[in-house]
Amino acid sequence: MKLKFNKDGKFKILLFGDIHETGDFRTNPKFKDMRKLMNAALDEYKPDLCVLLGDNCDDDVLANKGPEEFRKMLIAVCEPIINRNIPYALILGNHEHDYRLEDQIVEIYQNTYGCITRNEEPGITGDANWKDIIYSSDGKTPKFCLWFIDSNNVCCDRSLSHYDYVHHDQIRWFERESAKLKELNGGKPMPSFVFQHTPVPEEYQLMRKAHLWELPWSAKGYGVHSKNRYVLKKGATGYLGEGPCSPDVNSGQFASWKKVGGVLGAFFGHDHLNDMSGYVDGIFLAQHKTAGFRAYTDGCKSCVRLLTLDENNLSTFEQELKHFKEFGLKCESLGPIFRTLSDRQSINLHILGYSALAIGGVTAAGIAVKKLIDKTGG
Ligand SMILES: [Fe+2]
Ligand SMILES: [Fe+2]
Repeated sequence: MKLKFNKDGKFKILLFGDIHETGDFRTNPKFKDMRKLMNAALDEYKPDLCVLLGDNCDDDVLANKGPEEFRKMLIAVCEPIINRNIPYALILGNHEHDYRLEDQIVEIYQNTYGCITRNEEPGITGDANWKDIIYSSDGKTPKFCLWFIDSNNVCCDRSLSHYDYVHHDQIRWFERESAKLKELNGGKPMPSFVFQHTPVPEEYQLMRKAHLWELPWSAKGYGVHSKNRYVLKKGATGYLGEGPCSPDVNSGQFASWKKVGGVLGAFFGHDHLNDMSGYVDGIFLAQHKTAGFRAYTDGCKSCVRLLTLDENNLSTFEQELKHFKEFGLKCESLGPIFRTLSDRQSINLHILGYSALAIGGVTAAGIAVKKLIDKTGG
């Protein structure tokens, strides 16, 4: 499928993060709420391409309910896109890798209209690494590259990192293909976006360690950063709900983007609470919240992100984040309290709940021990 800029010179990409659909999609109101968001965003933005940022399904439905139900569940996630004949890219997240069903998943989607997911270089790590070019509005000139990278599953050596990293053979492939695109682009790096599920470790450069008074709205780091709490640095925008779960091993992917040039922005899923973004060394890094209600969330905060390119000025782009409620939608799957709370209020309520449970547990244990001592003493 050939992607090209529209007659007005624009190309719009709509992002959906971590839907985590499971086998009870027909009856669960969470599926209905996700559908409402998807339909509203597609109607409002009329994108030229949709990108689903991985962890689209989260259950071994094939083993539990059989191949036909598995196929129907996968199609149900993308149905609003497919029914509108919009091209879409579905990248693989760690949960697609969990059940080793990557080939079946990709094949099912490839049999639908508009799916551009494929494995361009089968010999390298990952099950779906590929690139697509957006051509000029007259269809003649390659103008912009979209990289879709498989960030793999968990790391085979957990003492190094919990989550896997983008491997060196994937990075070398990116560099080889970038060199070809540079030639096509008159010797200049072709401008591009990267889409992948797990964020690069450099996302932590959007953040700084929290001061003592900032602890209530800070987020605990992950992995090698887990001893610290973080807030966003000046210049970064959006919401930091949790420390990004990037790999602890830095394989040099971000350094390769800087070396090769042309990468304007990289967009990640994986951490369902985060929608922060900002520039690191001139590259826009953005993490994307879940567009669903299945996985852990913090209230009714699911959202989509729109990226708009203009073929007459490809040194930059526009981006916009829009949340469920901003579309004027009514949430049916969450209780009245979590429907109305803000992100941070919702998290603090959870912390308060766990603290109350912990204090209650310690008090009950203390009373029990005292009773035992009294009894023994008596
Ligand atoms: Fe996820
Ligand atoms: Fe994930």
